[in-house]
Amino acid sequence: MFGGHVMPVAVGEIDRDFFLRGKPMARVQIPEENCEIREPAEIKAFLKQYGIEFEQWDVEGRIGTDATNEEILEAYAPEIERLKQAHGFVTADVINVNPETPGLDEMLAKFDKEHLHTEDEVRFTVKGSGVFHINPESAPVFAVTVESGDLISVPKGTHHWFNLCSDKTIRCIRLFEDMSGWAPHYMEEPVHNQYSPMCMGPSYLEGEGGDLDPEKIVQF
Ligand SMILES: [Fe+2]
Repeated sequence: MFGGHVMPVAVGEIDRDFFLRGKPMARVQIPEENCEIREPAEIKAFLKQYGIEFEQWDVEGRIGTDATNEEILEAYAPEIERLKQAHGFVTADVINVNPETPGLDEMLAKFDKEHLHTEDEVRFTVKGSGVFHINPESAPVFAVTVESGDLISVPKGTHHWFNLCSDKTIRCIRLFEDMSGWAPHYMEEPVHNQYSPMCMGPSYLEGEGGDLDPEKIVQF
């Protein structure tokens, strides 16, 4: 499912944090502008322009690595309640996706094409990671990588698509008003094929800015 032009980068050239931490970290990447935002407060401010909420909640120390779905919902009950009040959500559940999930590729194929929903898409990632691409009406497409501890709320009507990272693993809390609101409505002229489903990409750290160099790209 990661066919096409996946464009991760060479060790040392790109994402030192990824290799140090062994997993992706929250970030916003704007391919058209060769721009990347890593600072959580800046990510939050950038996303707010598009009505997208971004928060980071503690995971370590709040839930064990083998916590059950019920334990996760219990641990985050205060935050879930706050979101319910703010968005009018009725209920919450926990979804677990990993390489052994039956029908994984078919399931992911529903969401890796540009679409919108008729209700907000709210996800708190407990484990694993993924990338939301957002296609705003009047600004370039940007990618938001979310990982353990990140909450993202994509407003209804927002054009977006989603990819898992290479470990094909994500465990997250979902909130909803009505499950029918999750049905994806696809675009007539989608742009998702123009973007890499990357979980890490060229970092444009100070002093390392520059154009995307295909020589620095490795399969991810
Ligand atoms: Fe979606």
